[in-house]
Amino acid sequence: SIIDQKNDQSYKMIPMPALNQSDDLTELTVVANFAEVYLAKEGYQGLIGINFLEKIQIPTLPSIYGAILAGVDYILMGAGIPARMPQVISDLSDNQDTSIPIKIAEDGNNEPSLSNFSPTRFANGEKLIKHKRPKFLAIVSSATLAQHLNRSSFGSPDGFVVEAPIAGGHNAPPRGKTNYNENGEPIYGLRDEIDIEAIHNIGLPFWLAGGYGDKSQLDKALSYGASGVQVGTAFAFCDESGFESSLKSRMLDAIRKNEVHVKTDPLASPTGFPFKVVNLNGTIGIKETGDSRPRICDLGYLREPYRKENGQIGYRCPSEPEEDYLKKGGKIEDTFGRRCLCNGLLSAIGLEQHRKDGSKELPLITAGDDLKYILKFVEKGKTSYSALDVLTHLLGQRPVLKAI
Ligand SMILES: Cc1cc2nc3c(=O)[nH]c(=O)nc-3n(C[C@H](O)[C@H](O)[C@H](O)COP(=O)(O)O)c2cc1C
Repeated sequence: SIIDQKNDQSYKMIPMPALNQSDDLTELTVVANFAEVYLAKEGYQGLIGINFLEKIQIPTLPSIYGAILAGVDYILMGAGIPARMPQVISDLSDNQDTSIPIKIAEDGNNEPSLSNFSPTRFANGEKLIKHKRPKFLAIVSSATLAQHLNRSSFGSPDGFVVEAPIAGGHNAPPRGKTNYNENGEPIYGLRDEIDIEAIHNIGLPFWLAGGYGDKSQLDKALSYGASGVQVGTAFAFCDESGFESSLKSRMLDAIRKNEVHVKTDPLASPTGFPFKVVNLNGTIGIKETGDSRPRICDLGYLREPYRKENGQIGYRCPSEPEEDYLKKGGKIEDTFGRRCLCNGLLSAIGLEQHRKDGSKELPLITAGDDLKYILKFVEKGKTSYSALDVLTHLLGQRPVLKAI
């Protein structure tokens, strides 16, 4: 059972990801990713991709392997420079041992610390078959990064998702010195405009993302030579999306009443990347609600490894209790305005942790600037919409979906 027996309301905890984590946690990571892809593929013929953040490094190898075991078609990775991924994906598809260097803060001249994964060790004597190699798409926000990745000595991505800063989730920071508007949002300027022609000239397939949840935008993308678009916000509040149901209906209602807006928050995410946050009531996207959450770090996916004075590796997160973060050598200014994305996002999909004092972790909702347009997917007389409604709008006609 995932529910704690002693306190029947709270989820049992698993250890936090760490460089010397147990084989059990590594296996659980493989299984979790396998299950996610397996369930997505169940009953459908379409292609399935899985998206990882480069910045979250420690679970990366077992996660990729679990997705490969389930036959994932595409692996996507952004929020960093995923230069080694083409090699890693080839290694793991061939059941070869592989490793990636892990960034350690305050590491001086130490040898790089590696995260290793061995499919043979995972198989524990079972025979391994060779797997289909999924394609790798790097998520980029500049032609310069796409060109750099295309020349990587670890192999080129198979294509790119090219994401503009109005997209939901994390965004690349503006280039150069950041200026902020009166709401404290980073200002993107001419230097941040993506040179799509230069990306087209690389010659690999690419998909445009960030404000492309509309037929006219899809047509525009295709006219630029894109293979298609990647859409998040339009699907995020449809019936099939993983956001908890009552949150979705409250969100649609709040948009109808013009009560919500999307903020590009430069502080909320412990990663340091700008993160889009919606100010829906009852979520930590409301400043006072977010500020009043007692800090606790018990999931730890965004913890940063750092070198301790005694030479060992420790882990810290700017959203953890301030005194803990400071004891670990973190700077107080890095804790200002931070939110616990781990607990907030799990709560948003209905898996909120229940605390001993009877409180529950409140949700955090991310969405892109397209949020203000999503009511167009709701048919007259209805209060919700389906993924098929979004596809119908995108394609200009109702697509025929083949179930198997
Ligand atoms: C609710 C939500 C969660 C997202 N989570 C991630 C994520 O974990 N990793 C990622 O690379 N992109 C994430 N994105 C970005 C999407 O993958 C996609 O690129 C983006 O939503 C496209 O722009 P749009 O929001 O304007 O449609 C997320 C977007 C939304 C709306």
